[in-house]
Amino acid sequence: MSTVRPAILIARAVFPEIEDRLRPFFEIETTPPGVVWTPAQLVDRLQGKVGVLTTGGERIDAGLLAACPGLKIAANLAVGYNNFDLVAMTAAGVLGTNAPDVLTETTADFGFALLMATARRITESEHFLRAGRWKEWSLDLFAGAEVHGSTLGILGMGRIGQAIARRAAHGFRMNVLYHNRSRLAPDREAACKARYVSKDELLRAADHLVLVLPYSAQSHHTIGAAELAQMKPTATLVNIARGGVVDDAALAAALRERRIAAAGLDVFEGEPAVHPDLLTVPNVVLTPHIASATLATRRAMAMLAADNLIGFLVHGKPLTPLNSEVLTP
Ligand code: DGY
Repeated sequence: MSTVRPAILIARAVFPEIEDRLRPFFEIETTPPGVVWTPAQLVDRLQGKVGVLTTGGERIDAGLLAACPGLKIAANLAVGYNNFDLVAMTAAGVLGTNAPDVLTETTADFGFALLMATARRITESEHFLRAGRWKEWSLDLFAGAEVHGSTLGILGMGRIGQAIARRAAHGFRMNVLYHNRSRLAPDREAACKARYVSKDELLRAADHLVLVLPYSAQSHHTIGAAELAQMKPTATLVNIARGGVVDDAALAAALRERRIAAAGLDVFEGEPAVHPDLLTVPNVVLTPHIASATLATRRAMAMLAADNLIGFLVHGKPLTPLNSEVLTP
């Protein structure tokens, strides 16, 4: 019996306890803090590896798969997996796993925080104060948009969308509307007091619109100039989904021309680069893709990715597979 342990790559720096969890089972190659492998470097590092723990920043596509024929699993430390070409992975017999559930409530908290910060102009007013520009209290100083009792539109009603809806309906007495590829079952709609509407009605009716839909070729620029034109001039837009779901150039123009009131963005097209026009408009709150970032949740996400590697490579049973068809012999 061979005593050689399978080799895996942890493609981004993770917490020490994640490495400790994996070490008894695998020869692990780690990645130093601050290092992001280029696609070519990733291919190099994956030679001789059967598994890889990825973040949303490592793309697993046909080119990489052809160059890494020994790879059997890519375990994503994220619920979103638009960095995986699942069709190519399935064709190559490579399993993909993601990290759902463990981040739902934390991400919904952040979605709500970003909505509040955007509607109530928190970062804009803080910049004003730090710049020493606060000279007197005045009635309309940074007067923002009402949150409680207003109409919240949610585009994408998966687990995180539903968790945001519950906060809005039960905590803030908001009128919650949603649009999704498929309508929720009546008991789920009742639990989050949300009403299904068309995308057009959602855009027209929302005082605040939160995007929580997955990115795909179909959802590319779901919000562009035409959709922004349908929104109320007083509306706010929050994107915690993925860059690319919004046309950032069109959004920056709409914000500058006050065609919508404000936006809160945690994700960007081409991140970590940010469209330069978004950096110059005042009515936007910008955060660096941190919606799931509490230590406990990031630990749980990384641990789930690690347990998927162990589950599949050691026990033949991954916890959260995306393309289970590769498991069938
Ligand atoms: C996710 O889990 O998809 C978050 O966006 C972190 O990448």
